[in-house]
Amino acid sequence: MNAATPIKTMIIDGKERYHEPAPKDIDLEQFRQVVTSRRSVRKFTNRPIPKEVLDDCLDMAMLAPCSSGLQPWEFYVVRSLPKKKQLVRACMGQLAAKTAAELIVCVARTDRVQEFSRKMLLEWPMPEVPPLVRRYYQLIPYNYAPGPLNSFAMLKKAAFSVGGLIAPVPRGPYTRSEVALWAAKSTALACENLVLALRAHGFDSCMMEGFDEQRVRKLLKLTDAALPIMVVGAGERAEDGVFWPQVRFDRSLFVHEV
Ligand SMILES: Cc1cc2nc3c(=O)[nH]c(=O)nc-3n(C[C@H](O)[C@H](O)[C@H](O)COP(=O)(O)O)c2cc1C
Repeated sequence: MNAATPIKTMIIDGKERYHEPAPKDIDLEQFRQVVTSRRSVRKFTNRPIPKEVLDDCLDMAMLAPCSSGLQPWEFYVVRSLPKKKQLVRACMGQLAAKTAAELIVCVARTDRVQEFSRKMLLEWPMPEVPPLVRRYYQLIPYNYAPGPLNSFAMLKKAAFSVGGLIAPVPRGPYTRSEVALWAAKSTALACENLVLALRAHGFDSCMMEGFDEQRVRKLLKLTDAALPIMVVGAGERAEDGVFWPQVRFDRSLFVHEV
């Protein structure tokens, strides 16, 4: 929703509530086709992806759900030819990287919690920030700050472990690695949106974690607070771009009704 979109409200139980009805005209079969036709493509044609298409896909990537709405992701579209060459090398020369029309490095950031919590309150999409929401975003930066050598994290862990004996409590993310995982989860969801959006536009992709992290960090001048999650190679699927049929094990191994 942008600033020009009027906010719809309705009265529920005598109170004015934000109202965003679920759309009813989604084509399930089209969605299914996007999901089922997505494959990891490791050989692409020379056809470029139009800029407006890639921009649209990135915009859809950034609509992925994200923990506390804090959008801990970044996307580096590597356009400069020398940098692209170095990135292909960092991806250990994988064909999916070498032949891709576009290479996008998807990065999780752990150091924007405070900045984005403030931003959230400044850009809150309703005329008034509910008091609970305000308190939440005021507290979150403390919650997710591991402190020097995880010192704050250890204190919080100890305090919540005691509290947890009597009631459910948040068990993290407190330590540096837990906060990294926190950011990685939301970033991976954005990556999935990205590849599905590419598919919906008729293009394909390969997610790659087979890369030399040190080299990618150096190439993009990333600080320790920026974690390269994956490189997405994207382009038009070559005739022989998918190497074998998709393998998924029996659903009984994964889906449990308890
Ligand atoms: C996090 C992640 C990392 C991956 N890394 C690579 C990679 O480095 N190279 C590659 O060829 N494929 C990579 N893949 C693709 C997987 O091998 C592929 O998704 C899997 O074999 C299932 O095939 P499908 O995507 O066609 O369904 C990666 C996938 C994910 C989700």
